[in-house]
Amino acid sequence: MPRKRVLSGVQPTGALHLGNWLGAIRNWVELQKTHETFFCVVDLHAITVPHDPATLAENTLSTAAQYMACGIDPKISSIFIQSHIAAHSELCWLLNCVTPLNWMERMIQFKEKAIKHGDNVSVGLLDYPVLMAADILLYDADLVPVGEDQKQHLELARDIAQQRINSKFGVLDKPLLKVPEPLIIKEGAKVMSLSNGRNKMSKSDPNEGSRIALLDPPDLIKKKIKRAKTDPKIGLEFDNPSRPEAENLLSLFSLMSGIDKKTAAEKCSEMGWGTFKPLLTDATIAALEPIQNRYKELIQKPEELNQVLADGRATAEEVAQSTLDRIKAAVGLLKKI
Ligand code: AMP
Ligand code: TRP
Repeated sequence: MPRKRVLSGVQPTGALHLGNWLGAIRNWVELQKTHETFFCVVDLHAITVPHDPATLAENTLSTAAQYMACGIDPKISSIFIQSHIAAHSELCWLLNCVTPLNWMERMIQFKEKAIKHGDNVSVGLLDYPVLMAADILLYDADLVPVGEDQKQHLELARDIAQQRINSKFGVLDKPLLKVPEPLIIKEGAKVMSLSNGRNKMSKSDPNEGSRIALLDPPDLIKKKIKRAKTDPKIGLEFDNPSRPEAENLLSLFSLMSGIDKKTAAEKCSEMGWGTFKPLLTDATIAALEPIQNRYKELIQKPEELNQVLADGRATAEEVAQSTLDRIKAAVGLLKKI
């Protein structure tokens, strides 16, 4: 039996944070042991909002290094840069032409970002989820491990594959595109901001103190946790909707220390914030230390990193090109001579 295929990606829009790690990348590391895995740095997604070119290039390489530092092994996974494979943009165009505009206008992330960017909303931002569908569908991915915020985008990818490509251009018993399944691991699927337990931790929050980056040095982690929002109650607990910060920080403690949720809740049930925060700080610093050490080694060897990306591209491109050719033929584009 061939191994099931997995594809996922993160935008190189800034330092990766605990949400990216716990919601996505940490799960990739496990999946690569049992699945055929493709992980891309989605730089074309990163240019859907205004950006600085030099920073983007730097972040792209750094994001790839952070994948590896987190444990993605280039010997068993293909790691590549989205824009290095033209098929992503090409399939995106083909899918654009069959995707109804009103499906796009419903996308929550688009609506949220559109509000934030006011007059400066690009067509690319509206089209973001179609490009994401192209990323996934090109690889006939069975599973797409992401955080909860990406669920709606995955539904869209499924709908495009099923209703707009397979049913219009395919034959019944031989679908043109694989319809992917989301894989959202409950623990860590939504890490909340340190400055407001009701907002998700996000790279785009202007307040740096709202997130912990994987590469933050220990003293900065300490400072951020010290300043993290709390409430006046003593004792940490889960499942109290009026205490989102307690929920989030306790959950982070459990994930960072590897102590299961129940034990963590018991351990901290009578603890004041002043006792709890140093425990969370130590657990976080210890959990990130091996990642930071590996990152420092990797980023000093750009040639090796580039070789990994070239190898990843070669493997990925072969799969992507064959899917693209299949879809082009199915929609009636004349074959190259
Ligand atoms: P992004 O930073 O938007 O490129 O997201 C990359 C991956 O991290 C996606 O799979 C997201 O679902 C996941 N992710 C982003 N923010 C969070 C968060 N606060 N909690 C859990 N997962 C997240
Ligand atoms: N939209 C995703 C996010 O912000 C990133 C992404 C782009 C992605 N293409 C993808 C995730 C393909 C999984 C699969 O998190």
